Amino acid sequence: MTDQMRRIALASRPSGAPVPENFRLETADVPVPGDNEVLVRVHYMSLDPYMRGRMDDAKSYAAPVPIGGTMEAGAVGEVIASNSPAFKPGDFAFGMFGWATHGVAKANLLRKVDPAQVPVTTSLGVLGMPGFTGWYGLTDIGKPKAGETLVVAAATGPVGSMVGQVGKALGLRVVGVAGGADKCKLAVETFGFDACLDHRAYGTAGELRTALAAECPKGIDIYFENVGGKVLGAVIPLMNPHGRIPICGMISWYNAGGLGAGASDQDITAPGLWRNILVKFLSVQGFIISNHFNRFPEFIAQMAPKVASGEIAYVEDIAEGLENAPAAFMAMLKGGNMGKQIVKLI
Ligand SMILES: NC(=O)c1ccc[n+]([C@@H]2O[C@H](COP(=O)([O-])OP(=O)(O)OC[C@H]3O[C@@H](n4cnc5c(N)ncnc54)[C@H](OP(=O)(O)O)[C@@H]3O)[C@@H](O)[C@H]2O)c1
Repeated sequence: MTDQMRRIALASRPSGAPVPENFRLETADVPVPGDNEVLVRVHYMSLDPYMRGRMDDAKSYAAPVPIGGTMEAGAVGEVIASNSPAFKPGDFAFGMFGWATHGVAKANLLRKVDPAQVPVTTSLGVLGMPGFTGWYGLTDIGKPKAGETLVVAAATGPVGSMVGQVGKALGLRVVGVAGGADKCKLAVETFGFDACLDHRAYGTAGELRTALAAECPKGIDIYFENVGGKVLGAVIPLMNPHGRIPICGMISWYNAGGLGAGASDQDITAPGLWRNILVKFLSVQGFIISNHFNRFPEFIAQMAPKVASGEIAYVEDIAEGLENAPAAFMAMLKGGNMGKQIVKLI
């Protein structure tokens, strides 16, 4: 009998926040690697906010997951069969294996991970796509200068915590926004933020703005946009002339469907937003990190030694078992994760 694997398929498209019925746990034959392909037994898979967008049948920068298709994910595991000279059984590799216990991929699409250097889970977070996103978005688009003030929300996630730590290393005042007192403590005590505000403690954008203004006495020069919604509304009027806004994400609107394109809960009106951009000469630039992977080797060369030495801190939230991935994913979208959300499969 062919070896069996498990995977989680998209059973139906969510309307609003995902529910358990949108996911289906299935068994399938373990795939057989073809020419130049490698078979991997996944040890850890990543859960990321972008996966919510893939569940919608909406036009976006990436195709949606088809109904019945395996949910998409980056994952890391052990090579158990290889038809490529680049990998041998026992090697560890990162690839896009999806929400699944096994995966096959072309060797040139895989990244070798050395467990002797850093834990393999770091390839999913601090030294993977999210950490790279924070590093690239802040340094390349945010154009930080020492003495400036930076605000970032989702401050304790893998993107926000990288943004904050790189900002501090470059001599900026860094103010985080996060959900809850424990996360704010983590932002300050573990990631070295100067201050962190709990967005849940403020009912309106105006109240949050007053608190932010007190923590940003010289105004805000860089707003690293991860969430949209109330935080965006609070920040915009506090931006300094010539401020920069790298638009990385807008998670507070993802459950509105179509990646939030139709959301109407902004706490600042469109004319108010445009006026701020106009009269303060703001630079607002969106980016999708998959278009910038030519910079990944530079990121790894700079940051891997800092992660190995502990100079850059990271926190991981590890759920156990593929069957628990949907619950961990649904919780993460609402802020239930403390650090990078990962699922341990073996
Ligand atoms: N542009 C790109 O290529 C790219 C690449 C990677 C990630 N991203 C984006 O970067 C952002 C952070 O990603 P991540 O992987 O580091 O995720 P993460 O921070 O680990 O998880 C998402 C966090 O979003 C926060 N959140 C959820 N709903 C919110 C709301 N209504 N208001 C404020 N905050 C809310 C929660 O944190 P709190 O509990 O602290 O509020 C939650 O923990 C996401 O928007 C993601 O889509 C973009």
